[in-house]
Amino acid sequence: MQSDFSDSSFRASAVTLPPWLIAELRTDHAGETGAVFIYKGILAVSRCEKIQNFALRHLETEQKHLQRFDAILEPGVKSRLLPLWRLAGFLTGAIPAIFGAQAVYHTIESVEAFVETHYQQQIERLKTDVIVSSPALIEIKRILRECQEDEIEHLEESKAKLSDKIGFVTRCWGHMVGFGSSAAVRIVRLI
Ligand SMILES: [Fe+2]
Ligand SMILES: [Fe+2]
Repeated sequence: MQSDFSDSSFRASAVTLPPWLIAELRTDHAGETGAVFIYKGILAVSRCEKIQNFALRHLETEQKHLQRFDAILEPGVKSRLLPLWRLAGFLTGAIPAIFGAQAVYHTIESVEAFVETHYQQQIERLKTDVIVSSPALIEIKRILRECQEDEIEHLEESKAKLSDKIGFVTRCWGHMVGFGSSAAVRIVRLI
């Protein structure tokens, strides 16, 4: 069951989260923004019914993830580069959609493999860095876990839909997506 974080008293600035955690939540918010736009990009290009259904289902989940981080973070601490992350997300979905289902599934597999690890690192750090766990921090850890579980489902579904042989260009694209996600996270921690 998802919690209601529309309560402004939970906002990051109101509960004095450690600066590293605010930076990490900023990356999650920017990442989920990108994820929403990946699926918008796929839907803007693909005319394949299977891909559209896949994208619509995932889009719904990513929008819920985004709403959760939106409710936690004050506008002032969100990434100032959100228009860039929207564009990057859109292109990350639209470009493979031109080339078909396998390219789309491999893109999602690459993104979600990165995101699973990203959330895991944050969960681990919350376990070790936070000596006195406040209810807010426990709740954040729970939200991260829930989002991570959804991302793992997306990852497994994409993997299951992929054929054994992924083309060289598609594999290179997958590496680029992983590298791009990692670079974006480093930037969002700062801005
Ligand atoms: Fe997500
Ligand atoms: Fe996802």
